[in-house]
Amino acid sequence: MAEYKLALGVNGRSGELKPRLIPFHPPATVGGSGPGPQGGRSSAVTAAGADANGHPRQALSCVAIVGLGYVGLPTALALHGRCERIIGVDISERRLAVIVAGQADLGQADRPKLAAALADGTLELTSDLDSISGADAIIICVPTPVDGAHHPDLAALRGACAEVVTRAHAGQTLILTSTTYIGTTRELLAGPLAERGLRPGMEVFVAFSPERIDPGNSEHVQRETPRVVGGVTPACSTAAATVLAQLTDSLYLLSSPEAAEATKLYENIFRAVTLALANEFSDACAALGVDPIEATLAAGTKPYGFLGAFPGPGVGGHCIPCDPHYLLWQLGKAGHPSPLIEQAMRSISGRPARVVERAGQVLDSDGADLAGAAVVVVGVSYKAGVADLRESPALGLMAGLLDRGAKVSYFDPLVPEVTLAGGQRLVSVAAPRGADYDLAIIHTLHPGGGSAWASECPRVLDATYVFEEAAHRSVL
Ligand SMILES: NC(=O)c1ccc[n+]([C@@H]2O[C@H](COP(=O)([O-])OP(=O)(O)OC[C@H]3O[C@@H](n4cnc5c(N)ncnc54)[C@H](O)[C@@H]3O)[C@@H](O)[C@H]2O)c1
Repeated sequence: MAEYKLALGVNGRSGELKPRLIPFHPPATVGGSGPGPQGGRSSAVTAAGADANGHPRQALSCVAIVGLGYVGLPTALALHGRCERIIGVDISERRLAVIVAGQADLGQADRPKLAAALADGTLELTSDLDSISGADAIIICVPTPVDGAHHPDLAALRGACAEVVTRAHAGQTLILTSTTYIGTTRELLAGPLAERGLRPGMEVFVAFSPERIDPGNSEHVQRETPRVVGGVTPACSTAAATVLAQLTDSLYLLSSPEAAEATKLYENIFRAVTLALANEFSDACAALGVDPIEATLAAGTKPYGFLGAFPGPGVGGHCIPCDPHYLLWQLGKAGHPSPLIEQAMRSISGRPARVVERAGQVLDSDGADLAGAAVVVVGVSYKAGVADLRESPALGLMAGLLDRGAKVSYFDPLVPEVTLAGGQRLVSVAAPRGADYDLAIIHTLHPGGGSAWASECPRVLDATYVFEEAAHRSVL
């Protein structure tokens, strides 16, 4: 198992911090020539491949994945060829039908894997939660959104954990991967299991291991992306890592589920704050007549201490707009302020309104008015290469344009139709022509092009900052 080059060069403290992370070595290398564990928790690693009583664990024969969405389905497919049976459970019959029909939004590399896993019968799809009883390990990947007040909506997670706890039996390893607040694994899994007489680290093994999957990104595949795992006990960490070693070549054992839960929140909060800063910095550059992309790229030539992001029309998807609120909610309950994170979240959620404002300015500077203008939004999913519309800034952008009286169309080959919060239903324009619109707003550019026609529009507002086909474009 490869030890990953740690991104801890920050502040020159890598030498100090690295020994606190314990790389996991799967059973084949334990006791062999591989490097031994460091620090005071070595027993967790030397127990790899052993059960709580020190008996060798058998190779995985059956793993159940609960929740087959953007995370769960690729996770199930990554197990193909690595365990005998994969039970994919989803409460949505509709979702199961989409998967069977080969219509799930999957990366190119996963499409043939799905076909193969269904054809050879390794992947069993079901909505029957009783089917998980026969699994050696259960990986929970259900959604953890926020409600209208930005509080955690734990309905799916509570439901899934309760179903798993009810059916758990001695010898099983239960791994929670849904992003959530600190303490959830103990609250929803470890505690209720112990009440049933299934003690974590003894009869069952319970851990949290955040998912780092990046849908649509073919550069960071699961196998090459390191994971962290925090068990309720060291034996739980080891048992969970043994399962997860089927998915990734690099794993680090943490001291607790809470440490692993906090790790995921920190990663996504870091991203939210960085994106808010990138947007604010690009607005500052615009005010001062500097090209923000040139400055961002130039800063990126510094090999340490800078990790930038590109500005854009806002953030979307199931992670960055939601996850930081899990921590803010938890801190709020404890009366602990977190002004930087709060401001970052306010800032990124206000970004689509800034795009609407700029659209008005671009038209106004040309003697035209946003009210009554024909505006086409190019790309509406929240990021390139995926069809995911969840929390997409395009939703707020199109609603804001409609509120200002614009005639709004959109083009997105991955998203055939959109229903806005106000109930308006829009359908992607099949064969758009730039000359038909007063303004094109570039929101998401999918790989493979297909958006060059927009450069023929008389006015182009480029919220991606990279649509260089249109020399006459304005940026935010
Ligand atoms: N999407 C991402 O990019 C990403 C990346 C890393 C982590 N995550 C985290 O992973 C988790 C899952 O996210 P996702 O994007 O895959 O969600 P998703 O909405 O795409 O899929 C979740 C699936 O779980 C199913 N489900 C809901 N309740 C269930 C239950 N009780 N039993 C069985 N199935 C159930 C739903 O029908 C759905 O198909 C979230 O916590 C998210 O924050 C997501």
